[in-house]
Amino acid sequence: MNKTIIVSNRLPVDLKFDDQKLVVKSSVGGLATGMKSIHSEGNGIWIGWSGLTDEQIESERKKNEVEIALAKEKCISVPLTGYDIENYYYGFSNTALWPLFHYFQAYTEFELTHWESYKKVNQKFADVILENINEGDTVWIHDYQLLLLPELLRHKVPNLTIGFFLHIPFPSFELFRTCPWRDELLYGMLGADLIGFHTYDYVRYFISSASRIAGLEIRFNEIFYKDRIVKVDSFPMGIDYDKYYNSALEHESRPDDTKSELMHNIELHNMSFSESKLILSIDRMDYTKGIPNRIKSFEYFLNKYPQYKGKVRLVMLSVPSRENVPKYQRLKRETDELVGRINGQLATVNWTPIWYFYRSMPFDDLIDLYVASDVALVTPTRDGMNLVAKEYVATKTQGKGVLVLSEMAGAAKEMYEALLVNPNNFDQIADTLKYALEMPEAEQKSRLETLQKRISRYNVEKWAESFLNALEITKTSKPITITK
Ligand code: G6P
Repeated sequence: MNKTIIVSNRLPVDLKFDDQKLVVKSSVGGLATGMKSIHSEGNGIWIGWSGLTDEQIESERKKNEVEIALAKEKCISVPLTGYDIENYYYGFSNTALWPLFHYFQAYTEFELTHWESYKKVNQKFADVILENINEGDTVWIHDYQLLLLPELLRHKVPNLTIGFFLHIPFPSFELFRTCPWRDELLYGMLGADLIGFHTYDYVRYFISSASRIAGLEIRFNEIFYKDRIVKVDSFPMGIDYDKYYNSALEHESRPDDTKSELMHNIELHNMSFSESKLILSIDRMDYTKGIPNRIKSFEYFLNKYPQYKGKVRLVMLSVPSRENVPKYQRLKRETDELVGRINGQLATVNWTPIWYFYRSMPFDDLIDLYVASDVALVTPTRDGMNLVAKEYVATKTQGKGVLVLSEMAGAAKEMYEALLVNPNNFDQIADTLKYALEMPEAEQKSRLETLQKRISRYNVEKWAESFLNALEITKTSKPITITK
């Protein structure tokens, strides 16, 4: 039977040895959470990095344990060394591509050793895939860590069906052209039959790079490259809507004695303070998420509308991420300081303006936070899609809740009924927060209902289905000869 092989840098599970004991955690981030449900239902396999380096799996016992844990999840790991992780992952992927593609040009470092390692590791991925594919299989590659992989596979197996999806923004040509290895990256991606992005803007930027850097002929969304046609299209990623909606319903109807400690505390707090409202913020601790600006704009809001002091709390969950990269360490320090300063200045004995959690939370606690909050403040300075915005909407089963969303998130292109803001405009955010907190229930309901209809229809299953259908169609499109 033909299978679909999902390939991404990170597997849906993240393995660690804690005191010689293997700990299996779910991976964080949009890619892993989004693809997980697709993978668990399909008959395919997932190839990627387990979270452990070769040096960390030194004994036969550990090797066996890791293999068994991965097999249970239908996963195959690509063995990577500590050097690979340092240079390919923390290096080229996360200090060159990640900041560049998110418009943080000043954060971008182009290092030759990082680039060499990126090429080697993409080849390592290719080798593991080649060992595991059979005639008729489809390979679906994900994200910026593997931009060279489509071409590496195409080179070895010219008729292989290869899809590529980018989970982060594709930047404008003016930024992309600054990368010293832009040609290699572009030709690497063009090894795919179908290249997918979250939005039409990213599609346009990619097409413009293909035309201006490589001088390729483009017709609508088709790129003519060598003797092949590469299709490019937008596929806005959705969420597992039913999972979030049903979990929220279940949490709301829980008897008091089965509620989580977190929920108890939130409810206790709400009971003690009438008219108390909760604003929620959830992201990985990443500089693209606009965390310091969000905190500052909350402070600005409290100063502009002091009647809200004592009544509104910002509950901020920041999930640790890429802690070895200096820019992430600096962001963590800046966030700690900001929260400390604002809480220190404004808190009273009864009220702490910002509840700050720096950790990952179990799914059940996440649902509690979503359910309990009145407003979600999702203000990345740049984000490929942002699934938190969609998850929040899915958990609002009672039709109460307001989403404040950054224009710079891919999700804003589909979620027009959210209150859209420029994440750098504190004054606008303050006014929008006030509007959100005071929004009549009928308006909340009508906005949410329209959003819910849309995101329940275009859920993650539909997203994968439309991508894979479009990929299937590329099998039958005939190569053509171009006359110039
Ligand atoms: C984003 C990226 C993913 C990545 C995730 C978590 O969602 O698009 O490719 O896996 O962040 O980041 P990490 O570096 O921990 O894998």
